[in-house]
Amino acid sequence: LRTILMGPPGAGKGTQAPRIRDEFCVCHLATGDMLREQIAQKTDLGKMAKKIMDAGELVTDDIVVGMIKNQLEYNKACKNGFVLDGFPRTIAQAEKLDAMLDSRGEKLDSVVELLIDDQLLISRITGRLIHPASGRTYHKEFQPPKKDLLDDVTGEPLIQRSDDNAETLRKRLVTFHKQTGPVAGYYKTKGLWHGIDAAQSPSVVWDNLGKVFRAPP
Ligand code: AP5
Ligand code: ZN
Repeated sequence: LRTILMGPPGAGKGTQAPRIRDEFCVCHLATGDMLREQIAQKTDLGKMAKKIMDAGELVTDDIVVGMIKNQLEYNKACKNGFVLDGFPRTIAQAEKLDAMLDSRGEKLDSVVELLIDDQLLISRITGRLIHPASGRTYHKEFQPPKKDLLDDVTGEPLIQRSDDNAETLRKRLVTFHKQTGPVAGYYKTKGLWHGIDAAQSPSVVWDNLGKVFRAPP
């Protein structure tokens, strides 16, 4: 399986992608997670990216394209396929991805956009908790951890992302509609695009994803 999960901040990409990874034995490549890893390690790239992410804007195409390219080449789990989460976010990134896959003799199977109204996203974003080391995602109300503020698997503390506040979300949504909206059109033209109602519960969204992946090409 080679697929892309698109959608606005809080649509459920990071909730569904690990399930796709486990079900289809593919790699899960999330550019936002990779950037947060750089921030945690306090690299120069991380310091630069943090400012941009907290402003709700996009880091440059070259940075994220380089990270994806590197993973596709060296991450053995990607041999079976991949689920991309948060990439591509601009037409230029989509074109670079096409070139990368062409040179590998690989093709995308599908692009799935998680569709949801902006006003439903504020509660998802402000209630989100993450386990930074694994990227596991919870929600104070909708997907609470078994023990308050602790990761189910490791028992380590959960945190809030620094871009998960109402003001930065507003900017992230503007960026999404302006820069990432056209990417959906790019894949519609190629006949790869599928839309799924992401306002449903995680298990209903998961069932509908399954229908897309099982559909004949
Ligand atoms: P990124 O980390 O990709 O953030 P995002 O796109 O804003 O998406 P989120 O992670 O906020 O949402 P999600 O869809 O994963 O939602 P989740 O499943 O967690 O990027 C961060 C930043 O990095 C960007 O702003 C940019 O600066 C930079 N960046 C990243 N990639 C880049 C690129 N390619 N180019 C340039 N810059 C890039 O769910 C949210 C919450 O809702 C959770 O609490 C969850 O439990 C809950 N939830 C999920 N599904 C449901 C449901 N069905 N019902 C109820 N609650 C639900
Ligand atoms: Zn995410």
